[in-house]
Amino acid sequence: MKTSKIKKDAIEYIIPHWADYKSLIKEPKIFVKGEGVYLYDIEGKKYFDTFSSLVTSILGHGNKEIADAIYAQVRELEFFPNIGDTFTLPLVQLANKLAGIAPGELKVSFFVNSGSEANETAIKLARQYFWEKGQKSKYKIMARRYSYHGTTLGGVSATGLPYFRTPFEPLMPGYIFAPSANCLRCEFGLEPKNCKLMCAKTLENLVGWEGPETVAALIMDPIPGSNTGYPVPPDGYLERIRKFCTKNDILLIFDEIQTGIAKTGKWFACEHWNVVPDILTIGKAITAAYLPLGVTMTTPEIYSAFRKSGSEFRSGSTFGGHAASCVAALKTLEIIERDNLIEYAGKIGAHIKKRLGEMYKKYPIVGNYRGMGTLWAMELLKDRKTRTPFDPKLKVGNRIRDFCWERGMILRNNADILVIAPSIIITREQADEILGLIEEGIKMIMKESM
Ligand SMILES: Cc1ncc(COP(=O)(O)O)c(C=O)c1O
Repeated sequence: MKTSKIKKDAIEYIIPHWADYKSLIKEPKIFVKGEGVYLYDIEGKKYFDTFSSLVTSILGHGNKEIADAIYAQVRELEFFPNIGDTFTLPLVQLANKLAGIAPGELKVSFFVNSGSEANETAIKLARQYFWEKGQKSKYKIMARRYSYHGTTLGGVSATGLPYFRTPFEPLMPGYIFAPSANCLRCEFGLEPKNCKLMCAKTLENLVGWEGPETVAALIMDPIPGSNTGYPVPPDGYLERIRKFCTKNDILLIFDEIQTGIAKTGKWFACEHWNVVPDILTIGKAITAAYLPLGVTMTTPEIYSAFRKSGSEFRSGSTFGGHAASCVAALKTLEIIERDNLIEYAGKIGAHIKKRLGEMYKKYPIVGNYRGMGTLWAMELLKDRKTRTPFDPKLKVGNRIRDFCWERGMILRNNADILVIAPSIIITREQADEILGLIEEGIKMIMKESM
């Protein structure tokens, strides 16, 4: 088939995820091959994948070890569902492995096919937990503004970004929203040095007003994702939230779908603060992108509410915990441990941070930068001191993104927030290559706009 026909078919027959028609018809790209941190399109153009394929491809593309492990499993037994008392060997092995690497008492897992389903499961688990305990009025779910928790209706209802919510209103009842904890965009206009964690205080007040006896769970991403550019929480915030949830018998759900699996320099981001949730959701990088898998983990104590006779968690899906996906996850975790990649992600993260710091000093339009490990974002601002953004009409972020794409580098941006979230296997030279091209883009903007 001719390339032009393939591109035409892509536009005609596919409803794409998150694409406005105008940008889609401009130039569809058909990817055909991946090798390490690079991808190739159908015309043979090479691209640097600096967003690790939506923060999934942590070990790079074309990893033969993972591909071979999947092939061997599919030849032996491709699939049998995990329904009732039936399991496959990789499923049991992966559950055991996760019990070993997850923090605290998070030992038991429920397997699904995506991050959204993992969060959906977490919400259902929390609600049924209190239902099983006879606390049927304890059903409300608290989430935070500006956080993303998935594409299913339960996930959208917990998502605090209007773009994802508005067309689907009215959303699920029983959700309440607390402020974000983004110090660079503080909803109260305060600064960390004297805010006394107003965001946490407001969250606590909201629960007080609703009545803690009505709130089942609080879902949050310890570091929110690329949509808001990885705002690391202020000191003491997560610890305070943990204490508050424990005191009020509210289950704390950490969505680590984006931040989990080695990227921040720990298995899970929450370990940086020694804060352990009651429920942890994992997805994306757990299989290094070789197959889809989502996991919802909790503690044996919470699960004991479902273990009594006559009770069961009323959730399930056909393919959740597919044998081939579990093998992909087991191999991914094995490679991360064998090659010391958690430590490496921390080291490469320190290098990226240093380079971003240098760019911050050099270019006044670099408003701020934040992140951890291999998850970083840089925000471009018209005036750093007053935190004044550029006129959106200037499309500063989009112009840098297009500049990079044209030069063979995939760059994710959300308006003027540029995201740098490569595979954890990138070399220093490759990290410099990413930042070098972004720097060229910044110079281009400064020349054109000033
Ligand atoms: C923090 C977070 N939660 C949930 C999800 C949803 O995961 P999925 O797209 O695999 O359903 C995402 C995906 O981007 C995410 O970043």
